Amino acid sequence: MTFEFNIPKPIDAHVHLRDGAILSQVAPFTARQFSYAIAMPNLLHPVLTTEDAIAYRKRISAAGKSGDFTPLVTLYMTDDTPLSEVKKAKDAGIIGIKLYPESATTNSEFGVTDIKKTYPLLAEMEKQGLPVLIHGEVTDPNIDIFDREAVFIEKILTDIIKNFPALKVSLEHLTTTQAVNFVSGQKNIFASITAHHLLYNRNEIFKGGIRPHWYCLPVLKREEHRKALVSAATGSSKKFYAGTDSAPHLRANKESACGCAGCFTAPNAVELYATAFDTAKEFPQKRFSDFMYGNALEFYNLPPVKSKITLRKSAQKVEDTISDIIPLLAGQEIAWQVVY
Ligand code: DOR
Ligand code: ZN
Repeated sequence: MTFEFNIPKPIDAHVHLRDGAILSQVAPFTARQFSYAIAMPNLLHPVLTTEDAIAYRKRISAAGKSGDFTPLVTLYMTDDTPLSEVKKAKDAGIIGIKLYPESATTNSEFGVTDIKKTYPLLAEMEKQGLPVLIHGEVTDPNIDIFDREAVFIEKILTDIIKNFPALKVSLEHLTTTQAVNFVSGQKNIFASITAHHLLYNRNEIFKGGIRPHWYCLPVLKREEHRKALVSAATGSSKKFYAGTDSAPHLRANKESACGCAGCFTAPNAVELYATAFDTAKEFPQKRFSDFMYGNALEFYNLPPVKSKITLRKSAQKVEDTISDIIPLLAGQEIAWQVVY
């Protein structure tokens, strides 16, 4: 008999949906699997103001084409984000403000140049109860790329927490043991974890040659870190939730001499997470449901949803290509299906 079960329609706490033609190609994949998705603001023209965010939210809704999908949007923090924007954003239902260190990743050149410059804004966010979503990597080129998250935690995040103990922080796309331990030991820090960081270690990037579709930021780490992420996700802590970081780039921009960072996982995101959870004799359904839905619902204080999805343990093949975007595991078989 095939094994299947239902969970509330999950929440993607971190996704890149882009804009324009790509938005209409990718948003329906997220909308069919997720009840809420938090769309990142690193568009070519970043989402800087509450007005920008409201307009982007409308474009996502139109592109998502699903009645039981609610897009959530964030602002892109710069050195100059006005303090007055915090309350304005909060009142408009903007879910948080994303902090990118300058040039840490795709379209982050308008990001924060010096973390201390953000402290007045973080103080206002703490006061208003508006979460900050943090890309936690230092950008100093002298720091080894595999250490950038750990150094960010040690040098920057620790100080943020000390100064703003009541600030609600979502540390995005965790990749290391250090991050798991840090989040576990703090009261107001929660964290998203991607499916690809749960499933793969850094060997995957170099199997048989360089494989650009496995290149993302923060970059995949050693096996010991992957194991720590799986323990965090499948454990009893309420602090960890799914955030796919699905990041579509056109094939030519990935398969290039200087390929863009990002794994496009939206078409089968929930199935990939199920694969990562499917390691014990008995599938941990309750933990899976909390990680995919309940924990983010609580952190972001969202209204519960009625819709459910059905997961079935039955193989399917991942699409080879979606327009000109190559999904992770293109053409390969995966063991799970969301039943539509
Ligand atoms: O791999 C990534 N891709 N990491 C990020 O932080 C950004 C994202 C993108 O926008 O392409
Ligand atoms: Zn991201």
